[in-house]
This record gives sequence, C-alpha cells and structure tokens, in this order.
Amino acid sequence: MNNGCAQCHSVQTQDIEATISSEQMRGPDLSQIGSEHDADWIVAYVKREQAVDGEQHRVPYAGNDDDLRAVADWLVQPQ
Ligand code: HEC
Repeated sequence: MNNGCAQCHSVQTQDIEATISSEQMRGPDLSQIGSEHDADWIVAYVKREQAVDGEQHRVPYAGNDDDLRAVADWLVQPQ
C-alpha cells in the first residue's frame, strides 16, 4: 500500500505490516475493511469529511484525490 498508509496500517492478507513503532499512532489492520465500508466511505473518512462516533481519522491526508481513490478501491477488493 502506498501513500504512507502502510506506515500505520497492516493489511495482513497482503503480508503488509505497519512499520510505525508507536502503538498509539498505529491504526487497525485494513484486511477486512471492504466488508464494513465501501470505497466512498474510506475516501471521505481519510479526508476527514466523515467521522465515526465523532472521531475523525488520526492524520489529515496530504496526497491527491486520485491516489486516495486508488488505495480505497484496492482496499475494498476481496483479498
Ligand atoms: C500516522 C498513522 C496513520 C496513517 C499514515 C494512516 N492512518 Fe488510517 N488510521 C490510523 C488510526 C490510528 C486509525 C484508528 C482511528 C483513529 O484513531 O483515527 C485509523 C483508521 C483508519 C480507517 C478506519 C478503520 C476502521 O476499521 O474503522 C481507515 C479506512 C483508514 N485508517 C485508512 C487509511 C488510509 C487509506 C491511509 C493512507 C491514505 C491511512 N489510513 C493512513 C492511523 C493512520
């Protein structure tokens, strides 16, 4: 996964391991995200347009929309 997401997120089904050492910054494994949310939701959440229980994504997204869309589409593929 590019765009720095894999610093904080594992995708265990793809043998991607989060590299960040801080447990506090580390996000959940995203292997199953497609069963809970669609790509539109992921884009909105990471861009902080969509909150969950009043919580926004930990870090603001600094990349471009096309890249984020590509990552979101990839994440919701059955893996
Ligand atoms: C600096 C660490 C960090 C980076 C970089 C990061 N995230 Fe996250 N992410 C988190 C944390 C921590 C959470 C847990 C919720 C929270 O506290 O924000 C999270 C939550 C999520 C969730 C919700 C998971 C769920 O099960 O509800 C998604 C989806 C997500 N991130 C996608 C991404 C994508 C896509 C990228 C790259 C564009 C990315 N994240 C980059 C730390 C990060």
